[in-house]
Amino acid sequence: MYARVIGTGSFLPGNPVSNNDLAARGIDTNDEWIVTRTGIRSRYLAESGTNSSELGLIAAQRALAMAGVAAAELDLIIVATSTPDFIFPSTACLIQGRLGNKGAAAFDVQAVCSGFTYALGIAEKFIASGSHKKALVIGAEVFSRILDWNDRGTCVLFGDGAGAVVLEAAERPGILATAMHADGSQNGILNVPGQVCGGQVTGDPFLRMDGQAVFKFAVRVLAEIAEEVCAKSGIKAADVDWLIPHQANIRIIDATGKKLGIERERVIVTVDRHGNTSAASVPLALDEAVRDGRIQRGHKVLLEGVGGGFTWGAALLEF
Ligand code: ACO
Repeated sequence: MYARVIGTGSFLPGNPVSNNDLAARGIDTNDEWIVTRTGIRSRYLAESGTNSSELGLIAAQRALAMAGVAAAELDLIIVATSTPDFIFPSTACLIQGRLGNKGAAAFDVQAVCSGFTYALGIAEKFIASGSHKKALVIGAEVFSRILDWNDRGTCVLFGDGAGAVVLEAAERPGILATAMHADGSQNGILNVPGQVCGGQVTGDPFLRMDGQAVFKFAVRVLAEIAEEVCAKSGIKAADVDWLIPHQANIRIIDATGKKLGIERERVIVTVDRHGNTSAASVPLALDEAVRDGRIQRGHKVLLEGVGGGFTWGAALLEF
């Protein structure tokens, strides 16, 4: 039994915020620095009070509408997020409640920017085992809440948004292969090392990053895991129709495409307009390319993520 993507959806809050807009807000930066180093030109930032569950809900509703599936039919809901509305209940349960579904298994997955590829791999295993038939997998983030807006080295890189897919059990492909890995010894190069304790935030509640260490790690593991899922499926990386890598930085994306022999025309890029939306970046890019007609039924699509932990994950699917 295969898990087949039958609907995609996404949502970006408000209006684009350009690099010049950030400079005008008092951040000591400029468009040239950000574009040259990252490829990012703008991002979307949720208004205060708008949470991951609200972004994820709209993305989910759009994916369900494309799939022609009613929320009541879902038997599995997984949300990938590192910016949940609450410590608990999970963002998945909040979205489930607003969708009006009762009874589906619902839980969050925390693998930072790899979260969506982890959640997709988990959902695929539920469906392939025969235990579940219709799954909603969402990546939703409000990373703007965990940024130190006085740290120009990180705050310019991220944005808010959500993307979702609906999966259905099917006899034809389908997700062909998935992989997920982690190396916890690298937890220090990208983290938010704060906690809530005794009613107080203790430690540092903002995102901290060693940018150059992240860069090197990301390029290596994105190439490795792409080769891994291709080998599992018996497909050469150079033969996939579309590569959708995590949208962190155009230089990481280009280096990965080059290592895999996939030219830029077959790589879906949204980082220029969305920034890095962490767990939302891959499903946002997938939805954009499905809706604008680049990704067609039968195409082989390679999705991959990498993020804090460190974690990395991938899925190769026939759309
Ligand atoms: N605007 C202007 N100048 C800046 C900015 C900014 N926004 N940020 C930093 N600078 C300055 C620094 O202060 C420094 O100045 P100095 O030389 O006078 O001290 C100079 O630019 C160089 O700073 P570095 O941090 O060394 O810049 P680097 O060339 O390494 O680029 C970057 C930083 C873009 C973050 C790079 O390391 C990178 O792309 N790393 C990958 C990290 C990434 O993509 N993370 C996303 C999250 S992780 C994930 O999703 C997997």
